[in-house]
Amino acid sequence: MNSIIIEARDIVTAFGDMLIHDHINCSIRKNEIYALLGGSGSGKSTLLREMILLQHPKSGTLKVLGIDLNTITPLEAQNLRRQWGVLFQSGALYSSLTVGENIAMLYHEYTDLPPKLINELVGIKIDLVGLPPHARFLYPSELSGGMVKRAALARALALDPKLLFLDEPTSGLDPLSSRQFDTLIAQLRDLLGLTVVMVTHDLDTIHHIIDRFALLGEKKVIAEGTLNEVLQYNHPIIDYFFQRGSYGIKD
Ligand SMILES: Nc1ncnc2c1ncn2[C@@H]1O[C@H](COP(=O)(O)OP(=O)(O)OP(=O)(O)O)[C@@H](O)[C@H]1O
Ligand SMILES: [Mg+2]
Repeated sequence: MNSIIIEARDIVTAFGDMLIHDHINCSIRKNEIYALLGGSGSGKSTLLREMILLQHPKSGTLKVLGIDLNTITPLEAQNLRRQWGVLFQSGALYSSLTVGENIAMLYHEYTDLPPKLINELVGIKIDLVGLPPHARFLYPSELSGGMVKRAALARALALDPKLLFLDEPTSGLDPLSSRQFDTLIAQLRDLLGLTVVMVTHDLDTIHHIIDRFALLGEKKVIAEGTLNEVLQYNHPIIDYFFQRGSYGIKD
C-alpha cells in the first residue's frame, strides 16, 4: 500500500520578510517512517508544525489524511487532532504530574472513559513503550533522558493515533539509547500500523529506520526519496549533510 497520507504542494512560508519555504513539495506514504532533514534553521520544525495545524503557510496546499488544511472546518480539525500523536523536542511532559497522570490527562480530556479503564490503558501504554510498571508513579525529574522520551511517546500514543510526529526524538540521548529508541519506533510502526514523520539530525537513525526523507536546504526540498536514491544526486548540501566526498567519509 503506497497511498499518500500527507501531501505538501507548493508550500511557501515566511515570517515577516524572511522566506523560509519557497515552494516546497513532499509526499508521505502510509506506514512509512519519513524524515525531514536539513541544516539548523532550514524550516524542518516549521514544516512539521504546519502539518499539525500549529502554523499556517503563506500559500500552497497541505493535505493530511485526505483533508485539505486550507479549507478544514473546526470539526474536521478536532477529528484530525485525535488521529495524530506528537512528540516535541523537549518531551513536553508536565513536571508537576507523574508519568501516569501525564498520560491519563489525555483520556480525561478527550474521552468519557471510566477511571478504572483509564488506569488500565495507562498501564498498557507504559508497557508498550518499554517502561517498567513503576515508571507511572515517577515524576519527569526522576526519569533518565531515555525514559522521558519513552514517557512522552506513551503520551503521544494514548489515543491510538494513525500518525506520529516526532521532532528530534533522539537528541540528547546517548548513542545506545538512541538506537534503542529507533528500534522502538520501528517496532511500533509495524505493530500499530503507524505512519511516522520525524525531524532528525541523527545519521544513524537515517541509516537504520528511515524509509524515505526530504532534505531541506536553500528554502527548497533539495531531494526526496530513499537514502540510496538521494545519494545518486550531486549537490553540495547532500555531500555536506551525509559527510560525503571532501567533507569526510566516502561512501
Ligand atoms: N514563530 C516564528 N516567528 C519568527 N520566525 C520563526 C518562527 N518559527 C521559526 N522561525 C524561523 O524560521 C526558521 C526556520 O525555523 P525552524 O524551527 O523550522 O528550523 P529547523 O530546521 O527546525 O532548525 P533546527 O534544526 O535548529 O531545529 C528559523 O530562522 C527560525 O528563526
Ligand atoms: Mg527544529
